[in-house]
Amino acid sequence: MTEGVTDRYGVMGYPVSHSRSPVIHRLFAIQTKQNIQYELLQVAPEKLETAVRQFGRTGGKGLNITVPHKSEVVRLVDDMSERASNAGAVNTLVFRDNDIYGDNTDGVGFMHDLQLNQGVQLKDAKILILGAGGATRGIVGPLLEAEPDSIVIANRTFPKARSLADHFASQGPVDACRFQDVNSLPVYDLVINATSAGVKGEMPPYPEQAIHPNTICYDLSYGLTPTPFSLWAIEHGAAKSVMGWGMLVEQAAESFHIWRGIRPDTASVLKQLSVNIKA
Ligand code: ATR
Repeated sequence: MTEGVTDRYGVMGYPVSHSRSPVIHRLFAIQTKQNIQYELLQVAPEKLETAVRQFGRTGGKGLNITVPHKSEVVRLVDDMSERASNAGAVNTLVFRDNDIYGDNTDGVGFMHDLQLNQGVQLKDAKILILGAGGATRGIVGPLLEAEPDSIVIANRTFPKARSLADHFASQGPVDACRFQDVNSLPVYDLVINATSAGVKGEMPPYPEQAIHPNTICYDLSYGLTPTPFSLWAIEHGAAKSVMGWGMLVEQAAESFHIWRGIRPDTASVLKQLSVNIKA
C-alpha cells in the first residue's frame, strides 16, 4: 500500500550525481506499491560518518553506499553479513532500532545477472578477472561458490593481484598474474573487466590473447554507449560483450528486498531504463 508513513532511503557517494539508483528504486517502489522516498546524497569522505549517523538519527531507514565509501563504511556498522565481510565492503545499510547493519549486494547482483539474465554457465568455467581493486574483491567469493575450474586475477600492479588471490586461496582455485603474462591458454570462457580504467577514460593494454571466439566478456562498468572495454572485446572477436547494467539493477533489487521484504521484477525495470544491455 502506498498510504501511511513514507520511509526514507538514499544513496551516498562522492560524486553521486550520475547515480541511477534513485530512478531504479522509484521504479521498484511503484511496481511493488511501497511508500518510500529515495534521495541522492553527495557526501565527501571526511563527512561520511556524520552524514550516515545523521541519516539514521533523523529516521532514515536505509542507505546504499557507493564509490568511494564502500570500504570506509565498514567501520561504521555494528554488525554485517558474511558476504560483506568477505568482500571487505558494504553497499547497503539498514538502520535498526539501536544499531546499523551492513550488507553487500554487489556480488549477488552480479551473479544474478551473469547466470540468470545472461545464462552464463560458471561450473568448470575458466575465468579471467582484469583488475584487483574493491570491485574484484566483491565478486571473487560469489564466483568461487559457482565452482569454476579456475579464476586468474590479472592486474597492472601485480602485488595487489597476488594478495587478493592469496586472500581467496582457501575458498577455491584462484591465481594471479600481470596483464602482460596472460596467455592464450587456458581458453577463457569468461573475461571480466573490474578495473576502473574505463570510468577514468583510460584504455589499458587489455590482454587480447585472452579472447577466443567463445569467450564472453563482462564489463562491471556501464554507459549509455558501449564502454571502451566492451568495444575492445567485440573488436577482438569475443562471442558476446555485456555491460554492467543488469548487475546495477540486480544489486538494487537485493537492497530493496533487504529493506522492504519484497523482491521487485528486474527485467521490466531494465527495459524501462531503456538500456540495451548488450554492447
Ligand atoms: P574499485 O573499487 O573500483 O575496484 P580500486 O580499488 O581503485 O577501485 O581499483 C581499481 C582497479 O583498476 C585496480 O586494479 C587498478 O589497477 P592498479 O592496482 O594497478 O592501480 C585498475 N586500473 C585503474 N586504472 C587502470 C589503468 N589505466 N590501467 C590498468 N589498470 C587500471
